[in-house]
Amino acid sequence: MSTESRIVIDLDVPGPTISRHLYGHFAEHLGRCVYDGFYVGESSSLPNEGGIRLDVVEALRALNIPNLRWPGGCFADEYHWMNGIGPLADRPGMVNTNWGNVVENNHFGTHEFMALCELLGAEPYVNGNVGSGTVQEMSDWVEYLTRDGDSPMVRLRQANGRDAAWKVPYWGIGNEAWGCGGNLSAEAYVELARRYATFCKDHDGNKLYRIAAGASDHDLAWTEALMKAISSLGGEPRNLFQAVSVHYYTVPGTWEHKGSATDFDLDDYYRTMIKAQDIDRVLTGHSTVMDAYDPQRRIGLVLDEWGTWWDVEPGTNPGFLYQQNALRDALVAGLHFDVFHRHAERLVMANIAQTVNVLQAMLLTDDTGGLVLTPTYHVFEMNKGHHDATSVPVHLVDRQAPYELDGKRLELLSASASVKGDHALVSITNLDPAASAEVVLDLRGATIRDHRGRLLTAPELQAHNSMADPQAVVPVALTGIAEDDRGLRLTLPPHSFATIELDL
Ligand code: AHR
Repeated sequence: MSTESRIVIDLDVPGPTISRHLYGHFAEHLGRCVYDGFYVGESSSLPNEGGIRLDVVEALRALNIPNLRWPGGCFADEYHWMNGIGPLADRPGMVNTNWGNVVENNHFGTHEFMALCELLGAEPYVNGNVGSGTVQEMSDWVEYLTRDGDSPMVRLRQANGRDAAWKVPYWGIGNEAWGCGGNLSAEAYVELARRYATFCKDHDGNKLYRIAAGASDHDLAWTEALMKAISSLGGEPRNLFQAVSVHYYTVPGTWEHKGSATDFDLDDYYRTMIKAQDIDRVLTGHSTVMDAYDPQRRIGLVLDEWGTWWDVEPGTNPGFLYQQNALRDALVAGLHFDVFHRHAERLVMANIAQTVNVLQAMLLTDDTGGLVLTPTYHVFEMNKGHHDATSVPVHLVDRQAPYELDGKRLELLSASASVKGDHALVSITNLDPAASAEVVLDLRGATIRDHRGRLLTAPELQAHNSMADPQAVVPVALTGIAEDDRGLRLTLPPHSFATIELDL
């Protein structure tokens, strides 16, 4: 069975730039993300540099990761950075109360994180501790990392082996302050956050981009409280906060029964996609609130946690959030990126949760050197051409009727496009689990000199990569693209993600 749709793309109508930071990442001290994932320690038999696992770095470098958020999440609000500097043997431990109550030895700290960012070629995004820290503590951290001249924090950094200041633009002022970050009201958080933001200074050439801890899902009242506070500050509103965040997870079940990553039926699949598609409503809602206070769109919206959240894999620590990653997760990612591209004027950054071994990960590792690239990894890789490209309008016409479930509708085709120099990239997701999509790409405003396509699919939605079968879901060439008097004609198999690169 197949359906036919037409996608009109105006290649000569430039929209906002798709910031590469929409392809950002997140590494929390949670389960096996940092320890065992990124960081194995210098004594590990696995190839490493300063304890950082080099096969992980190599795999992630292929994604051109633009930024990495650290150390949490909920962990950030109980992290005291001074415990994570200096000789490893002298670093005090702590209990990671949010994630499994395990003892954190603080071996991966500020210097290790900065070394990781340098190896990845990613910009650091440090999330400060507002919940249980102090204003002085965060202010000192900023000084330690970014100050060039002489100062107590600079001398401490130098004593720990690093002379030159780093550049650290992105700072989160707390995390989920309405929950694990302190259970605060929006008003209480805003008062607190103003003090933190005030004393986190721009040192030398390092200009801070301060991100206020934002809402969850559809909590527009939280964003409204933040925006009201930001815009009531005298003078230029961007002086104190440059962005507000929001978190949105695709959890189709309940928090108690989220469902399995790989053992699901069609009903579960549709519910997942309907939930994933709701990211559009979430971003539209928060952007609309922000527009009322900041019509020039100078304050950014940062979705610094997103992704699927399933029940943990059987037999693993429930506090470690280790889940498999199936073709379904890749389609969730494809759908999110189309939405992100459409919101590129307000949405300045997004960070998938999380990069390695936690939630919707790019990589799954084991301690014997096994490393698996997940289907979601491949979507990030196939979409790289959108980084810092100019979005262009995409109109889905002659499309099939949406799927309906419990009064909710799901569009079965999703697409977005961008132009960079003499190339364009079109991404298309066919969400239909049973029918191929015959697609006419009606390409307007440019001459197409050449084209090539790539396809990510598998016989089953549940297909996933594992140590035993790491190549079950990998991109292949999309064959059979035909020239049509309007542009190109192609067929997308059921449940598939494709990219078409155009030479203009
Ligand atoms: O990503 C896992 C957790 O989800 C983060 O620590 C927290 O911010 C969110 O609730």
